[in-house]
Amino acid sequence: MIGIHTKIEDLVKADTNMIVFFNKEKTDFCCNGHMTVEEVAKEKNIDPIILVRKIQDRIDTGNSKAKEIIDLYDFKELRIGEMIDSILIDHHKKERDLLFEIDPLLNKILSVHFARHGEELMKLHSLFADLKKELEEHFVKEEEITFPLMLENESLSREVIKKVEELETDHEEAEDIIKEIIELTDWFKVPKDACRSYIHTFDLLEELVKDVFVHIFKENSIMFEKFRNKERK
Ligand SMILES: [Fe+2]
Ligand SMILES: [Fe+2]
Repeated sequence: MIGIHTKIEDLVKADTNMIVFFNKEKTDFCCNGHMTVEEVAKEKNIDPIILVRKIQDRIDTGNSKAKEIIDLYDFKELRIGEMIDSILIDHHKKERDLLFEIDPLLNKILSVHFARHGEELMKLHSLFADLKKELEEHFVKEEEITFPLMLENESLSREVIKKVEELETDHEEAEDIIKEIIELTDWFKVPKDACRSYIHTFDLLEELVKDVFVHIFKENSIMFEKFRNKERK
């Protein structure tokens, strides 16, 4: 039963189509997944009952296409080691590839469209550089330090808990940059005179951001939660 006290992360865990809904609503379901429907409504300055109804409508109508693409159900059932493998393949590799592909494209459209869209593209170029640095360094920390520690530790040591908390802080920092990108581009809207490269770059950026949201949700709300509950064996 959904109500104003339902947590956003529980809605996403129960129905992955909610990821599409919350992206559309510009609601942060990954780092702020612990927020209730009422808290989100308050932040958005809307009636919480109306938001509950919108969520219920969305669940009732569903979206089979999105369900095929985004499936957390299998992920939730994995053991910690399998979750880590899945994250490395499905998200770290994918996002590294996207960052690598977007970087020169963004540089190209900055140069070609500088006369008309220089101000926005300069800011975007700078925010993307910040995000790239943040994510690449974060992935290495996970792969080289924290994930191996999580696999090795039989009991929850203070050291490993601290490392997991550091990752959660990194996630918030990445999300802050992403929020600025979303605001700057009004959710990846291209100008009327955008060329094919411009459109392609924004499409890739959107793909990257959506993937990071799911990635962070899997880590924060499923894997780290499972690890803290000592269910990792
Ligand atoms: Fe990760
Ligand atoms: Fe992470």
